[in-house]
Amino acid sequence: MSVIKMKGIILHGGHGTRLRPLTHTGPKQLLPIANKPMSQYCIESIRDADITDIAIIIGGLGANKVREYYGNGENFGVNLTYIEQDEPRGIAHAIRLCKEFINNEKFLVFLGDNIIQKSITGFVENFTKSDYDATVLLCEVDNPSRFGIADVENEKIVKITEKPKKPASNLAVTGIYLLTPQIFEVIDNLKPSWRNELEITDALDNLLKQNDNIGYEIITDYWKDTGTPEDILNANRQVLENICNQTGSIIGKNCKIDESALIGRNVSIGDDTIISSDVVIENSIIMSGCKIDGGLNIKDSIISANCHLHGNNKDKTKKVFLLGEGTKITL
Ligand code: DAU
Repeated sequence: MSVIKMKGIILHGGHGTRLRPLTHTGPKQLLPIANKPMSQYCIESIRDADITDIAIIIGGLGANKVREYYGNGENFGVNLTYIEQDEPRGIAHAIRLCKEFINNEKFLVFLGDNIIQKSITGFVENFTKSDYDATVLLCEVDNPSRFGIADVENEKIVKITEKPKKPASNLAVTGIYLLTPQIFEVIDNLKPSWRNELEITDALDNLLKQNDNIGYEIITDYWKDTGTPEDILNANRQVLENICNQTGSIIGKNCKIDESALIGRNVSIGDDTIISSDVVIENSIIMSGCKIDGGLNIKDSIISANCHLHGNNKDKTKKVFLLGEGTKITL
């Protein structure tokens, strides 16, 4: 008997507007966390759950950069298919584009801007064995109005609402969905939401109304939707702590870091970057090909590739930067 393997979908489209100017030159899911694009963590999570046939939804600015980086997937141990979305018409819309690719099997969807620490293998296995129409992974959050929220009563989901003004719980529906092909028909009957998107939360809520048969699991370890620069720095810190390097920082290849520069905790520095004397950096992401000098004192910053920052050697107050690619600053 041949076993048909579950397939996966990664959402790598959208315009990344909330992360401008970092996203002016490419998709947010390629922004580096500990020197690795955030969507690569998704691919690795999925691959480690033994799902190797993956469709990547691309669209918007820099979609070609996604193809260039991941290619056919062989360098990452997966087999990739690219599916183009003309406009970010919603998560459910993106999923609907994959109907042919999925065929008639259960499948996994992973939003390319979600980072999870724990292995997802157990969740996938439980879903494979279950007869649920869908399983969602929930995680407690402090700011429920920013997420899809599940209302759970007596250990059953009774309602799922997108970004509720008055949240019924603080259990966010994370961007990791285990679905059956039933969702496609539900999406076909969906109306666009107030933000003019086909919402996956609406699709799930309609599916729930139909059969009352959606399971859930709760993530108790680290999970993050990297919607803001603070979220990205938070994920960077978490990953750096995980990869256990004692200095709490990661430095790419071919960098020149002056002996008198101070690279503090939670700092990622990309390849080919030059940090000159007396520069101090803490809690920041500096991407590749940057030059920083003039005794700048930098904290809580994200500095994109090929930026040049020149301090004046006098002003030692801590500075916070959020810079798009190729920015030049002289103080
Ligand atoms: O991260 C979890 C949250 O993700 C859930 O709690 C929400 O229910 C869900 O709607 C979603 O909320 P966001 O508002 O954060 O979704 P965002 O627009 O940021 O899109 C999520 C990812 O999907 C992002 O990587 C971009 C990609 N995307 C998004 C849309 C709307 C696409 O590839 N195509 C699209 O059309």
